[in-house]
Amino acid sequence: MLENNYAVILAAGKGTRMQSQRPKVMQTLLGDSMLALVLHACEALFHQRIIIVSGYAAHTLESAFPTRRFVRQERQLGTGHALMTALPELQALGAAHATIINGDCPLLDAKTLDGFLRMASGADLAFATIVLPDAGAYGRVVRSGNSLVGIVEAKDFAADVHGHPTGEVNAGIYSINLEKVLPLVSRLDSANAGGEYYITDLVRLALDAGLDVRGIALGEDATLLGVNSPQELAEAENMLAMRTVRSLMSRGVIVHAPQLARVSPLAVIEPGVELTGPCEISGKSCVESGASIASHCVIRDSIIHANAEIRPFCHLERAEVGETAIVGPYTRLRPGASLEQGAHAGNFVELKNARLGQGAKANHLTYLGDAEIGARTNIGAGTITCNYDGHAKHRTAIGADAFIGSNTALVAPIAVGDRALVGAGSTLTRDVPPDELAIARTKQKNLPRRKL
Ligand code: UD1
Ligand code: CA
Repeated sequence: MLENNYAVILAAGKGTRMQSQRPKVMQTLLGDSMLALVLHACEALFHQRIIIVSGYAAHTLESAFPTRRFVRQERQLGTGHALMTALPELQALGAAHATIINGDCPLLDAKTLDGFLRMASGADLAFATIVLPDAGAYGRVVRSGNSLVGIVEAKDFAADVHGHPTGEVNAGIYSINLEKVLPLVSRLDSANAGGEYYITDLVRLALDAGLDVRGIALGEDATLLGVNSPQELAEAENMLAMRTVRSLMSRGVIVHAPQLARVSPLAVIEPGVELTGPCEISGKSCVESGASIASHCVIRDSIIHANAEIRPFCHLERAEVGETAIVGPYTRLRPGASLEQGAHAGNFVELKNARLGQGAKANHLTYLGDAEIGARTNIGAGTITCNYDGHAKHRTAIGADAFIGSNTALVAPIAVGDRALVGAGSTLTRDVPPDELAIARTKQKNLPRRKL
């Protein structure tokens, strides 16, 4: 049913009411941008059939989603104009239907979208409506008895002309039959209080043309709330957090302090995981069954395999933690860090672009950057891989079953062979062959002490 239906996400506006330089759809909820959340909801139904209209700070949006299809609305003359901008692309793709979605409704989920599209099926133009206690800046839905009259934007609404407000507002999601609606788009104008081309004027134009137009009432559905101000962003974020955590618990995830667990809907958390708030898990993170995440952890775009344990106060970004591995407390895993099965990284240990092999341990006060550590190797407290010479980064390779004594500096590029032993306090500048012992520190001298 949806094969030639394309989603068009309107995301070109600056979001003036946010009072931020950042484009509104790049503001984040639970660590993920509004646009990422809307895309996530659309993806399940539209797959790759999604067009994003960018405009203000277009480059920021386009570089954040490099695999997506964008059209540029160079001047943001309104939502109707944004649709006009997308038409040539829709036609080039052979689209018969378009589902237009305001980019600033981050609570949208695939289920609501699917429900709306089912009810819109067969209509020439359909839009979703919700009922709010305060219609605020939303477009008002005007009906006369059972028949739809149109959508009147807040700035243009006058009770004496349009009747008593009912609280029914336009949610900002539309389904259109392009063949029927296309001829009307060029008739949009900006002769209104906002001086903009309103997509919502299509409703009146389509009714005048005798088309099948439906205002699909979804009641008080909060999943369609728009976000225009910092206050609305915070409210939407809280709602999203609660909704996501409830859905996790209903699928068998144990959540302690659920009111403090901030898990993005983009993250995949398998049944049988145990989480403790406060924590934040976002992006393309995946936590497998049996893994546990203690409080005060921030985890982004990371994979935690089955039965791994993340202890309190850890920070992970683009990292991978193998089965039964133990991380923390107080560990930082930066992009490219990976722990293989059963490995341990303990307190004040930082890994960047580094692999700790199976069962290897770095338990205290250590920096491992651009490094490979073999299976079962022990990295003593205070070990530093000196990976940067002021110009370039170099690698450290340590074999399996090696033992690096405490407070060792490994000046890269350097290799330490399997089963090698490095004496504590060494500064190594040359490779250590397998099975050898290396000590690189000045000899201790004991001298008579000066009389007190
Ligand atoms: C819009 C609707 C209003 C509805 C509300 C629901 C219009 C005229 N009004 O109002 O009826 O109740 O959404 O939340 O459509 N955008 C562009 N290009 C532009 C202007 C806007 O891409 O030239 C994008 C924005 O980035 C945003 C979306 O369209 O994601 C909606 O724009 P916004 O200015 O927030 O519209 P509202 O005033 O909220
Ligand atoms: Ca809006």
